[in-house]
Amino acid sequence: MVHPDDVVFDGWDISSLNLAEAMRRAGVLDWPLQEQLRPHMEALTPRPSIYLPEFIAANQEERADNILTGTKAEQMAQIRRDIRDFRHSSGVDQVIVLWTANTERFCDVRLGVNDTAENLLRAIEAGLEVSPSTLFAVASILEGCAYINGSPQNTFVPGAVELAVQRNVFIGGDDFKSGQTKLKSVLVDFLISSGIKPVSIVSYNHLGNNDGRNLSAPAQFRSKEISKSGVVEDMVRSNPVLYGPEERPDHCVVIKYVPYVGDSKRALDEYTSEIALGGTNTLVIHNVCEDSLLAAPIILDLVILTELCQRIRVGVEGDGDPQPLHSVLSLLGFLCKAPLVPEGAPVVNALFRQRAALENLFRACVGLPPQNHMQLEYKTQSSWGCAKRPSVPAAPPPSKTAVPHLNGYVRPGEINSQPASGL
Ligand SMILES: NC(=O)c1ccc[n+]([C@@H]2O[C@H](COP(=O)([O-])OP(=O)(O)OC[C@H]3O[C@@H](n4cnc5c(N)ncnc54)[C@H](O)[C@@H]3O)[C@@H](O)[C@H]2O)c1
Repeated sequence: MVHPDDVVFDGWDISSLNLAEAMRRAGVLDWPLQEQLRPHMEALTPRPSIYLPEFIAANQEERADNILTGTKAEQMAQIRRDIRDFRHSSGVDQVIVLWTANTERFCDVRLGVNDTAENLLRAIEAGLEVSPSTLFAVASILEGCAYINGSPQNTFVPGAVELAVQRNVFIGGDDFKSGQTKLKSVLVDFLISSGIKPVSIVSYNHLGNNDGRNLSAPAQFRSKEISKSGVVEDMVRSNPVLYGPEERPDHCVVIKYVPYVGDSKRALDEYTSEIALGGTNTLVIHNVCEDSLLAAPIILDLVILTELCQRIRVGVEGDGDPQPLHSVLSLLGFLCKAPLVPEGAPVVNALFRQRAALENLFRACVGLPPQNHMQLEYKTQSSWGCAKRPSVPAAPPPSKTAVPHLNGYVRPGEINSQPASGL
């Protein structure tokens, strides 16, 4: 993998503050740490960006002092020039663009406007409904740069996906999976796969950073609500014994802007499940975390994983040239709330299934078989050739009583020969 120290950063922002000043304004890091970072951050000044006020909350307007002008097509052409300029001046091997700007409202998906790659390119020329994040996506794809969406909106309208596939450029998203949703993608999987049936999941959040301020506007909140709500779908569908075909748990997500708590996001969740004989099991979780400090490592991981995936080829011996992975890089779903997958592919939200996919792919890359945790070689009485059994200690003295064992009874003398991993 690329070493994180070898990543070179550049970017755009509609706010002109250099990153040292932006760090002070955000108030996330303690002052002594800010002082140490200041010399590294001061020189980083964002390039002017595309600002279309109708896509983000009106309360962001006062920050927008670093914006491009001209038509949508002209602004997108400038973003393409910026990418080329950065590639040239930094000397990096590859450029990957990641959107971590404000959550936008959903874009209308309209026939003839953004339903195909051709129509989307025409819509940009004609100045029709195209969001800034989609303009960035199209600019990146046309420059051959992978593009990752860390926010919840539908940046990847069908035309943008088609363009990426046509050009063999990676796209991934949507929305960083940092706190509450990450826990949900573990907890609901655990409950359902244990046969415990969640029937009501209620998630409250309050936060006081600029993300929270933007999300206090209804259209932007709606994007987040959609992205957070789908996360239990695959887990519910995975257990048809617990849930009927149309049955879903109630799932409600609330986000409130409370300036005082700043970046220290509070997430309060209540999971109510049905258990045996009409009983209920209620889990209440109060999660407090620095929102941005959970997200920043995810940003690095997304970029590093994407770069690595660009170098992977998959094929069957004797069956033509190995192929790159699909342009819609669903493996990034491990780090995203609403995983983007190729058309027709199953959406997996369960965190450890997503992790296993990554782990096994990387094992394959170094010639190791997939890890399936079956350990069948340890699960029978007879020792198999490949199993490494612990040496059998001397048998205890014979006794008249049989000793209870996990699966019934074993004869005295066999107790100590059970391999530990079998239990
Ligand atoms: N834990 C997390 O922090 C977390 C988790 C999941 C998703 N996200 C998403 O990541 C995004 C960023 O979150 P944040 O907390 O850093 O927000 P933020 O408001 O602190 O930062 C967003 C930045 O984007 C800039 N911006 C807005 N529109 C822009 C545009 N068109 N072009 C360039 N810059 C633009 C803003 O000026 C601001 O500096 C949000 O969509 C948020 O929902 C964050």
